[in-house]
Amino acid sequence: MGNCGCKLNPFIYKVSSNTKSVRAKNENPTEKPRKDNSGLPSNPEEVEYLRRSTATNPLIVFSFEELKVITGNFRQDYMLGGGGFGSVYKGFVYEDMKEGIEPIPVAVKVHDGDNSHQGHREWLAEVIFLGQLSHPNLVKLIGYCCEDDHRVLIYEYMARGSVENNLFSRVLLPLPWSIRMKIAFGAAKGLAFLHEAEKPVIYRDFKTSNILLDPDYNAKLSDFGLAKDGPVGDKSHVSTRIMGTYGYAAPEYIMTGHLTPRSDVYSFGVVLLELLTGRKCLDKSRPAREQNLTDWAIPLLREKTKILNIIDPRLQGDYPIKAVHKAAMLSYHCLNRNPKARPLMRDIVDSLEPLQVPFEEPGEKSLVTVISEYSNGLVERKDTQLR
Ligand SMILES: Nc1ncnc2c1ncn2[C@@H]1O[C@H](COP(=O)(O)OP(=O)(O)O)[C@@H](O)[C@H]1O
Ligand SMILES: [Mg+2]
Repeated sequence: MGNCGCKLNPFIYKVSSNTKSVRAKNENPTEKPRKDNSGLPSNPEEVEYLRRSTATNPLIVFSFEELKVITGNFRQDYMLGGGGFGSVYKGFVYEDMKEGIEPIPVAVKVHDGDNSHQGHREWLAEVIFLGQLSHPNLVKLIGYCCEDDHRVLIYEYMARGSVENNLFSRVLLPLPWSIRMKIAFGAAKGLAFLHEAEKPVIYRDFKTSNILLDPDYNAKLSDFGLAKDGPVGDKSHVSTRIMGTYGYAAPEYIMTGHLTPRSDVYSFGVVLLELLTGRKCLDKSRPAREQNLTDWAIPLLREKTKILNIIDPRLQGDYPIKAVHKAAMLSYHCLNRNPKARPLMRDIVDSLEPLQVPFEEPGEKSLVTVISEYSNGLVERKDTQLR
């Protein structure tokens, strides 16, 4: 048995676009999800029993009542995002509310009320994976709630939200080149850590909405609902029934269902291309031949003279040209149709390291203004003190 330590069906099943999840073709959207959660834990004792052999990180068990207090009764204007299987709210753990936890802001991910089997499994996958992995480039899971039909995850709050919200925002200033490279470097380190873990993990849903940013733009991977144990022994891949996310999933994975760490490398190439071009991997609002970012960009990446034409115009030419060429070539190699020709995540980390641009560290007590754009269109400004 792998990292997950539980008897889950090996087929995990979610197909989503970069913003919202969509149903798989063969799933009837009008059909009510079956409530068949046999084999899945139904209370914290059963969860902890499943975690017993893998639990390196202690997790705090929250009651649903406590979560209501933390999130102001799941206030709509506290909503940070929503996607595949539920909504994410901002919350605050107050002083003396709970033993073992300081007063801190948190993000609370509530899985859908229908409590579908798939939603329940994704919730459990996150509890198991994030309950055993810890790294500066993975979001920290603080605790969970498993009460009646409620399945909730409580994470550290990431003040700047997702890369998707920052990179494609119409209200925030464009991310400068140095920050884009910092994000790529941080996210690459997170993936390399997963691939090199004692029991390797394939992340499987690498995309801009799953990379979160702290006030200093450190990137952390979140949303481990689709993560899978990597192949072990002499196996080259694990078999799954599905795709991850349209636009990000590797072509061979879509065609065969064979999942390898190199599928994550492909998705990394897509995200790097999004960081370089400022374009979404799928964008229906563009002319037909530009809607699919990789189809449009790959032929241009091959030609050195054309690369600068596809770099995000919002950067206004403010980037080191040599570094742009290197980053573009890196993305080109990650997007190779032959998975074996793609670099390893460790090589990618090594290639990105020299592209890091030292930027001026703010003074000891300087304030940064964090502007959060919520899914309901609300924009919040907050001054945050940097260490
Ligand atoms: N810890 C967090 N801090 C701040 N925002 C978060 C956090 N976790 C999630 N979000 C916001 O919620 C969105 C959806 O969260 P995610 O965990 O990816 O769930 P889903 O399964 O719905 O994709 C993210 O893209 C991000 O904008
Ligand atoms: Mg997500």
